[in-house]
Amino acid sequence: MFSSFSRRHFAKLAGLAALGLTASPTEAAESKAKQGKDRHAPAPFPKDFVWGTATSSYQIEGAVKEDGRGPSIWDTFSHTPGKIGDGTNGDRANEHYHRYKEDVRLIKDLGVKAYRFSIAWPRVFPEGTGKPNPKGLDFYNRLLDELLANGIEPYATLYHWDLPQALQDKVGGWQSSETSKAFAEYSGYVAERLSDRVKYFFTLNEAGRFLNFGYGWGIDAPGLKLPTAELNQARHHTVLGHGLAVQAIRASARKGTKVGIAENIAACVPAFATPEHIRATEMATRELNAGFLGVILEGKYTDGFLAYSGKDAPKFTADELKIIGSKNDFVGLNIYAPQFYIAASDKKPGWSVLPFPASFPHMNSEWLRIGPEVIYWAPRLAAKVWNIENIFITENGTSSEDKLTADGKVNDLDRISFLRNYLLQLQRATAEGVPVRGYFLWSLMDNFEWIFGFEKRFGVYHVDFETQARVPKLSAAFYRDVVAKNAIGV
Ligand code: BG6
Repeated sequence: MFSSFSRRHFAKLAGLAALGLTASPTEAAESKAKQGKDRHAPAPFPKDFVWGTATSSYQIEGAVKEDGRGPSIWDTFSHTPGKIGDGTNGDRANEHYHRYKEDVRLIKDLGVKAYRFSIAWPRVFPEGTGKPNPKGLDFYNRLLDELLANGIEPYATLYHWDLPQALQDKVGGWQSSETSKAFAEYSGYVAERLSDRVKYFFTLNEAGRFLNFGYGWGIDAPGLKLPTAELNQARHHTVLGHGLAVQAIRASARKGTKVGIAENIAACVPAFATPEHIRATEMATRELNAGFLGVILEGKYTDGFLAYSGKDAPKFTADELKIIGSKNDFVGLNIYAPQFYIAASDKKPGWSVLPFPASFPHMNSEWLRIGPEVIYWAPRLAAKVWNIENIFITENGTSSEDKLTADGKVNDLDRISFLRNYLLQLQRATAEGVPVRGYFLWSLMDNFEWIFGFEKRFGVYHVDFETQARVPKLSAAFYRDVVAKNAIGV
């Protein structure tokens, strides 16, 4: 197959050469693009567009027993036999706790000016609440100073899944509103001490994922399979925790500090772009996100959500809804794959979810279906449905097989192809005025990928987990070029 394609390909090239045509079409296209006259390329990203990269604490830090850190539910879960695909855990991970200076240099080498990382709650409050551990916060003080000294703006996430084990043991974690309150206390404490250098705080990362996977299906920590009513109640406690944290941050941070959430929006895409399908997809976006983003951005559960949940709906008060609906300064969207393709329907509710054909393409992770248009549609529809003024793409990227060649290179052409196509769609969105202010590539470097252990590699830097050597992949150079041009070179 490959050789017949190659032969045809070369025959064609040879034919063109014979006609003396090889150089001219390319040259013409290049000079047209240089003059900015290529009608097919959207305008570059806005001048002040924020380019960044992202990581999370448990996935890279290691040092799980150092300087008074308490255990988290992910320590317990990853040490439970059979839970992690390759039997590993985050005890060592990328040793970022000790190698953070080297890692800040890697960020700088990409030419990005922003870095999204997460703070480990059990480093700051080893028991979840009560007595803080100043040594834990000191690590983030060191990291922030290093970032700022290198001209990199920190974007801090307060919860990327490493819940203090003590809270799980004492109150059942997110099953109790005690955890929502403890989260707010911890968030206020951190904001008070770090907001002299951190201007952007994200509360929860992907409540929709950690709740459903961890408390519903039992495949993430803490590994529970709650019945629907209890799961919905826990869901309510996560959004309540977000709202309480927004208030606590506003009460204790310096003036000008901005706060929002980072959510894996149930990303809906119209089957194809007709006005009916687009309208249907707006309705679907609202309903399919009603339990997380919807209630946060509207301060209420939709009638559809409450009717669908029936007797399993969460119990809540009007006051709680007010807290949950506290105004956000921005919304972070983690966007990897199209989750739902939507078509208009004559039947109620006016839209239907189309099934994925088995042949739908995906990247190295099976869940990571390829649909670059999702990064155009999800922010566009979210901005329209909830009237959002500032959106960050807080995560986007892909796993790849990433083999190191004998001469120490990683030619991750599939990642480059993925990023090129997604970023072109994002560029299209900003060119059309969709209010996306920045983009954080997941991930800076290969890391502990939760239940996949070290088997899945998402980094633009390759990590040898034995020697801890970091090597830039070809995609690091690709991303640096995009950042430098503030556009996808087409
Ligand atoms: C996102 C998470 O959902 O996806 C990241 O916020 C994670 O922490 C990334 O690394 C990839 O997910 P997974 O499940 O393939 O490791």
